[in-house]
Amino acid sequence: VRLDIGVEGGGEQGRWEEARVATATLQFGAREERERRIKEEKEKYQLVLEEEEMIDFVSTAMTMKGTLSEKVGTDLSQAEKQKQSIQEVRRSLPVFPYREDLLSAIKDHQILVIEGETGSGKTTQIPQYLFEDGYTKGGMKIGCTQPRRVAAMSVSARVAQEMGVKLGNEVGYSIRFEDCTSERTVLKYMTDGMLLREFLTEPDLASYRPRFSVLISNIASATLDTERFSCFFDDAPVFRIPGRRFPVDIYYTKAPEADYLDACVVSVLQIHVTQPPGDVLVFLTGQEEIEACCELLQERCRRLGSKISELIVLPIYANLPSDMQAKIFNPTPPGARKVVVATNIAETSLTIDGIIYVIDPGFCKQKSYNARTGMESLIVTPCSRASANQRAGRAGRVAAGKCFRLYTAWAFKHEMEETTVPEIQRTNLGNVVLLLKSLGINDLIHFDFMDPPPHETLVLALEQLYALGALNHLGELTKLGRRMAELPVDPMLSKMILASEQYKCSEEVLTIAAMLSVNNSIFYRPKDKVVHADNARMNFVVPGGDHLVLLNVYTQWVESGYSTQWCFENFIQFRSMKRARDVREQLEGLMDRIEVEVCSANGDIVPIRKAVTAGYFYHTAHLSKGGYKTVKHQQTVYVHPNSSLFEEQPRWLIYHELVFTTKEFMRQVIEIDSSWLLEVAPHYYKSKELEDSSSKKMPRKQGKAREELG
Ligand code: CDP
Repeated sequence: VRLDIGVEGGGEQGRWEEARVATATLQFGAREERERRIKEEKEKYQLVLEEEEMIDFVSTAMTMKGTLSEKVGTDLSQAEKQKQSIQEVRRSLPVFPYREDLLSAIKDHQILVIEGETGSGKTTQIPQYLFEDGYTKGGMKIGCTQPRRVAAMSVSARVAQEMGVKLGNEVGYSIRFEDCTSERTVLKYMTDGMLLREFLTEPDLASYRPRFSVLISNIASATLDTERFSCFFDDAPVFRIPGRRFPVDIYYTKAPEADYLDACVVSVLQIHVTQPPGDVLVFLTGQEEIEACCELLQERCRRLGSKISELIVLPIYANLPSDMQAKIFNPTPPGARKVVVATNIAETSLTIDGIIYVIDPGFCKQKSYNARTGMESLIVTPCSRASANQRAGRAGRVAAGKCFRLYTAWAFKHEMEETTVPEIQRTNLGNVVLLLKSLGINDLIHFDFMDPPPHETLVLALEQLYALGALNHLGELTKLGRRMAELPVDPMLSKMILASEQYKCSEEVLTIAAMLSVNNSIFYRPKDKVVHADNARMNFVVPGGDHLVLLNVYTQWVESGYSTQWCFENFIQFRSMKRARDVREQLEGLMDRIEVEVCSANGDIVPIRKAVTAGYFYHTAHLSKGGYKTVKHQQTVYVHPNSSLFEEQPRWLIYHELVFTTKEFMRQVIEIDSSWLLEVAPHYYKSKELEDSSSKKMPRKQGKAREELG
């Protein structure tokens, strides 16, 4: 049954190399093939039909791609059908036969490691089983952590739907800046950061007791991890849910792809015209790439018109509004094909039914952290072999599938790492350290981490917090640090907000903080109106830098009465603004708790820029002969071309973040006066360092801070 799509697709002949097949069971006879197809179709349309009818349908579908709805008349109302099919799906999940055994294992063990394939129902079903078994009686809660915001939102939506309740009532989610729970919520999906935050207000997590249990669920392919989890929790028992996986045929390209985005588009179309029904999942690295890919696909489909059947193109990434996110789970209408273009969120955290084809360019956007310079960056890097295999596995969940890898077999073997480095080992730990400190965990150097972060990273986080004034010289939390921990933002941003109290500009700084938290998606720049969009953007430019431009955008939007039309006319993304408004309201709500008076600088931009400096003095760059260099580490950096200061090139500036794309770009920069650095961080900068001679070598101060911190 293996089809080389190059052969049938035309145009791209021989693109795919004959490759290793995951299992050797692909030689179906006619009968098996027929049965497989029946099963496939059945699962895809989630309809329970008589075998006869189904066979009838499949043979029709095979010859003329007929549609299911035309063939099958049914009396069930839409809602009943949906309810019935939801229950069917629940019962069909691999975890279902183990419901009772699981419940009794959970009863017997306070800590249990549960292992099962992605999509077996660990996340959506187990909390429901506990709920049905009475675990939430007496106002107790079941919390389920998720690695990503999108996952928390979409899984809780699914569970609410399965339970027939409104999201936010019995089932809800809690992610940073968005709390969709209520008094009634007993099943709560949240990001792990939010659980940590719950410790702050409720250190013993009383609402999850009296019999507090920890369940760790893990993907079966990561067997090694399961053992490590079990071992970490004093040999906790492991409950294994046997997997159900179909073979996945893997294809590699013969030569490396010069443009993987284009290769994705071509591959999707090839699959669409040459392959039997089944949805496609494409893995890209981020929003921009995903949007570009979706646009290209839609454009080509438009051009092909009625020559091809319908192709439903759907993006999924973290910033996508939730109504759009939900769309990827809608069943594909008969006769059409769905293409989901996703970030690696679809690798393990989201399961989309009906995927038969996976396209994997082999890249992901990874956070990486340089502990020497203290720079965090998001870099597109080759994914690991474990990731690639997990991606391929997504094609074999409902039926035998195919995975098209847009890289060579050689690259897979020799250029990819075996596994992905755990995130805690490649991230700035400022936040985590601040939280742990405020939970009273003082000795972090000897803290029992499952994957200990590099010593350097931990020390640097301590140093930064010390420099920000959150820790004293003994490494203990200061009063300022305690207040900083109250804000659900990273320490520098917290510090900036707190500093706005002293500089009497909290109104403006709150807005800036909110806008920065959505900053990459504020300006809308459609390809066909680039000139208009850029002009509109220029109209917002004010002296001082990008932070003030963001402030200006927000202020004008408020003056327009939060108008959608205004956004449209000014090429501003309404959704992002709405989100900024939400974030701002929440931050403002927290000001009371940390006792910061909300007041305005009334047009004076110096205090605003000083407050930014107070939080971000770590991120200072200085213009010298060869361009910009960071003050502390003499690293060459560039102002992003989108910045309002791109042409102006002030001598001293502070950047919000450093992004590596083609170069090390500073995104969101603000002009400062070097003397402010001494004012806001006298313990960190010495005046000699800030003299305007670019050739001078900057003394390194890490050693000193390290001594002070013991
Ligand atoms: O946690 P695990 O990977 O074991 O599976 P799950 O996320 O509980 O998924 C179980 C089933 O729920 C799959 O068939 C998913 O397709 C479905 N699901 C869904 O339809 N919508 C979601 N937002 C999440 C899961």
